[in-house]
Amino acid sequence: SMLEAAHENDIELEGMNFLMLIKYRACEASLACSTCHVIVMDMEYYNKLEDPTDEENDMLDLAFGLTETSRLGCQVI
Ligand code: FES
Repeated sequence: SMLEAAHENDIELEGMNFLMLIKYRACEASLACSTCHVIVMDMEYYNKLEDPTDEENDMLDLAFGLTETSRLGCQVI
């Protein structure tokens, strides 16, 4: 995924569709953390994404700086 590529290559995604707040994936995408929190900057793009699952929303509630367009980066793209 784009997130994996950015993480592996230490690429900031700000200025694209995402503002990546923390570039870690502590739980390896198992929906047990919120360290992959991203804010989708482009509302049009955000609206094209699948809706978050209840499990993703539960983890997002724990994310620092939650916004209306926050997602867990490991669950999108
Ligand atoms: Fe833990 Fe995305 S890496 S939920």
